[in-house]
Amino acid sequence: MNLRRISLLLILLLATAVAVDAQVTKQPFGKTPDGQQIDLYTLRNAHGVEAKIMNYGAIVTSLKVPDRNGKFDDVVLGFSDFDSYLKNDPYFGAIVGRYGNRIAKGRFTLNGVEYKLATNNGENHLHGGIKGFDKVVWTAHQLTTKAGPAVALTYLSKDGEEGYPGNLTANVVYTLTNNDELKIDYTVTTDKDTVHNLTHHSYFNLAGEGSGDILNHVVTINANRFVPTDAGSIPTGELKSVAGTPFDFLKPMAIGARINQDDEQLKFGNGYDHTWVINGRPGVMRFAATAYDATSGRVMQVWTTEPGVQFYTGNFLNGTKTGKSGKAYERRNGFCFETQHYPDSPNHPSFPTTTLKKGQTYKSTTIYRFSTKR
Ligand code: GLA
Repeated sequence: MNLRRISLLLILLLATAVAVDAQVTKQPFGKTPDGQQIDLYTLRNAHGVEAKIMNYGAIVTSLKVPDRNGKFDDVVLGFSDFDSYLKNDPYFGAIVGRYGNRIAKGRFTLNGVEYKLATNNGENHLHGGIKGFDKVVWTAHQLTTKAGPAVALTYLSKDGEEGYPGNLTANVVYTLTNNDELKIDYTVTTDKDTVHNLTHHSYFNLAGEGSGDILNHVVTINANRFVPTDAGSIPTGELKSVAGTPFDFLKPMAIGARINQDDEQLKFGNGYDHTWVINGRPGVMRFAATAYDATSGRVMQVWTTEPGVQFYTGNFLNGTKTGKSGKAYERRNGFCFETQHYPDSPNHPSFPTTTLKKGQTYKSTTIYRFSTKR
């Protein structure tokens, strides 16, 4: 190779590196009450799709995707300023842990030892306790991957934190792929046997956040069975067939079509707030669910390796939170597809296990894929 060729090659390499680098930017977003710096990472893919993620709670604060005419809107609920996230009781956009969803009475027994966790949801434990993974500062760094721009976040949850045993390291990588996917890769390790169930808690509104309720979104869930609960949203232990119930989303169905039916499970959840048992083998990446908004043409598909998906229809939103565009989020203004293990698994030996043994590495991936149709 002559000198000219080498310098051309160098320039080319440099240009690619700069272009790829430009896909992730970082800016200060605020400070926690104890003075820790919070940064917002902006990921932009080759099509202009953009996700904003911060190192507090590993929260996705914004996700802009095009509608069928190429107009971008932010399709996740959230706040415009950091301080509002300090009171983020709906868990907007967060990574929830150490155990997403509920553990009955905040108790479980592992290796003959009973562990007591905080009860922060009636008599039950919810979403990791008083200070779950959604309320802690993660260590973040940006990555450039072949698939697209990414941010890697790590959190070490100390032995005894919120009552859980073991030093648990959670690593979450968000990649905004050039196939218009928000991909979440979880890697979890521990130095002592423990339980874990991390999930992602974005509230979606494919018509754009702040645009009203999601009852006309048409949803499909790839599940023949769901996890019925008691009045406190704790599983009864049964995995029930969806056939003939308002929980049958095997064929596309508007969220609002049956949500007010006289059904005990819908009453217990105040709407949909249940885990569906995704068809196929846990651990294998498979189609979980899809949502379609006819006004914008936006489609979101959810793929995961997790055994279940909690479909929650924002039943507890009540107009007291003001969102990014200045509008109050009312009941059912967003919905969640939280891919996860079933609630209260530590107390249900028949459910897929949520025990992570000392020295084991748990890996899990979930993909939210965006497209449009006419
Ligand atoms: C999950 C739960 C709901 C509710 C929301 C947050 O989806 O299942 O019951 O706690 O989180 O408000």
